[in-house]
This record gives sequence, structure tokens and C-alpha cells, in this order.
Amino acid sequence: MRDKFLVFGSPQILEEDIAEVVDTLRSGWIGTGPKVGAFERAFREYVGAEHAVAVNSCTAALHLSLLVAGIGPGDEVITTPMTFCATANAIVHTGARPVFADIDRRTLNLDPERVEAAITARVRALLPVHFAGRPCAMGRFQEIARRHGLLLVEDAAHAIEGRTPQGKIGAVGDLTCFSFYVTKNVVTAEGGMITTRRQDWAEQLKIRALHGMSRDAWKRYSESGYQHYQVEVPGFKYNMTDIQAALGLGQLRRVEANLRRREEIWARYDRAFQGLPLHLPAPPEPSTIHARHLYTVLVDREEVGLDRDEFARRLHQLKIGTGVHYVAAHLQPYYQRAWNYRRGDFPEAEYVSDRTLSLPLGPKMSDQEVEDVVVAVQQVARSG
Ligand SMILES: Cc1ncc(COP(=O)(O)O)c(C=O)c1O
Repeated sequence: MRDKFLVFGSPQILEEDIAEVVDTLRSGWIGTGPKVGAFERAFREYVGAEHAVAVNSCTAALHLSLLVAGIGPGDEVITTPMTFCATANAIVHTGARPVFADIDRRTLNLDPERVEAAITARVRALLPVHFAGRPCAMGRFQEIARRHGLLLVEDAAHAIEGRTPQGKIGAVGDLTCFSFYVTKNVVTAEGGMITTRRQDWAEQLKIRALHGMSRDAWKRYSESGYQHYQVEVPGFKYNMTDIQAALGLGQLRRVEANLRRREEIWARYDRAFQGLPLHLPAPPEPSTIHARHLYTVLVDREEVGLDRDEFARRLHQLKIGTGVHYVAAHLQPYYQRAWNYRRGDFPEAEYVSDRTLSLPLGPKMSDQEVEDVVVAVQQVARSG
């Protein structure tokens, strides 16, 4: 057994990341400035989007995206219950109603048929989540959105490297939101990005991310002399700092190499867990790139002899950290109380919610750590 606990989602921070952050700390400017600009440009080029606007979280990205898309009270937005609460909370913060539709148990993504069935006259946008890094059926969502006149806002918190047959994630929908939270594929501690092809939205996103002011601080205090700002709308404090962007720049340079490493670990897990009574992640669809963010197995008590929580507890005893992504949003007390959701509403999401367990997966993991996970999972899966 391991001596040291293997932390789930521990980020890879290299000397080059530290040097870039130190350079920023020494530069005399640590707020939103040139490094945020450089990070936005690098991200936009990586994704192939027209515009990229950096913010301080994906939660902020989702909130601002829905606002610039004009979503507000009286509107409905369809999303998945199999997501982090931030996705649905962002809808609530605009004043709109979060409408869940069930997922496909195999892909863990929103089922386009269920989405279509949930459309009412009040629905203004679809908010699919590329769960675990697996691209959603964007062709189907584009077609549904076009037919019903809806906007397509994507939660790509897990899917920076993802590609759909329609193009790279971030260059397909109307607005796409990314996360650089500590466990994500690119890390800035806290951070997010919005990509869009519309320049007017990109400008509005920037203004609303910084109090609704017409000029950001970097421009106000620059060499060209102090300039007054004007408050155009009551905005938010959602801007990214140069310290965060400094971290992101190096991380983004390694994004593809890190994906290769996660693909290797993924393939090792697939081979090692083949004969075990666990449900393994479905292989990616043709003509897509899976961003390999979460390796999730489903633990069914009937098949394994242990439920998911007991399985996780035994892995923990073997010093292997795990995650649960997620308890379905409609099972959370707030969504039940405020929006009248109940267990039984989305059976597929509930099936996954009760059984899902994410195993450690990250570029920082050594071969030995990967083998430790393999041996521990095999031991626990056979112990039931
Ligand atoms: C699917 C999903 N959406 C949104 C978020 C929110 O991202 P952030 O923590 O950057 O606000 C997360 C995770 O943190 C997530 O996993």
C-alpha cells in the first residue's frame, strides 16, 4: 500500500509556471494587464475562436455569457442535471428558470431527444455541458437551436482540448465557457474564459466583467496618461489578474502534451479494469477529440457487492483519493425547494448520480501512482 495519500486532482505546477508568476510579481503590475491580454490571445489561437475574454472563474463566464445573450427573468434555459451546481446557479442568477433534461447514461451528456421534449415557448437557450471532456452531440444541438431560434451557450469547463465533428469546442456554439480551476486541464488556481465569434458580445463581456466600466485599469493608468472611465452598466468584479494569467500561459503551452499523458493513463485504466464488474467510460465518438478530464466508473451495488460510497471509502483506506462528479443537481435541496424537482424526474441522471466515481487522472501522476490506482481499484472491486 502507498505511504502517502494520492490527492485527487492535484495540479501540475512546473518551475516554468513559478518563474512566470514570479516575473509578474516583480513586474510592478499584478492586476488585469498585459499577461491577461497575452493569455487571451494564446487561448483564442489555440481554440480557433474570434474572441476570447478572460474572467476569474467559469461560473463568472457562464453568468456573463447568459447576460450578454439577453437571458433574464421570464426566460428558461435547458441544461443537464449531471453537472456542477455552478452551471445551473448561473442560470438562476440571471433571473431565468433552469430547466433540466435527462442525460444519456452511456455518454453522460445531455440527450438531444430529451432536450427537444423540454422546449417551451419561454426557452431561450440551450446550455450543454461537455461532461468529463466528452464532446456533446453539437450537430444535433445546433440543429435544434436553429429550428427553435435558441442560443447555444456551452459549459466547456472539462473540455478545453475537445473537438466535435463541427469544429473545436469554443468555435462552435454562440458562447463557450471554460474553467481553469485547480483540478482542471489548464490551471490558474481560479479562472475562466469565454469564447465567441461576436465582437459586440466580446466588448460587452469585458465591460460587464469589470464593474461595467468603459476602460479597464491597465488602460487608465498606462503611459498614455490617466483617462476617465464611464460606467455603462452595473457590472461585476469578474476580471482575471496577471498573476493568474501568468500561470495559465505556461499551462496552455503544455495543454496538448498533458492531454497525451492523460490519454495514456486512460488507456492503462481501460485495459486494467476490463474484467472488473465496473462500468467503464464509453469510447469517444468518431471524428471527435475527448478532452479526458475525468475518468469516471459506475459502481453498481448489485454487480460489485459494494455501493459507490463504500467503494470510495475503501480506496481512501488504500490512500487513493477520488471524486464524485456529480450528485445530480435536481437532487440538491435548493433545486428541489425552489424549482420543484424530485427524485424520479431524470432516471438516467439519477442512475449515474448514485453510482459515479472519478479516479485520479492528471499529467502530474507518475507511472507508479497510476499502478497504485490500478492495484487498489482491482483489489476493492474484487472485495465485494
Ligand atoms: C461542469 C462545470 N461547470 C462549471 C464549473 C465552475 O467552474 P469554476 O470553478 O471555474 O467557476 C465547474 C467546476 O468547477 C464544472 O465542473
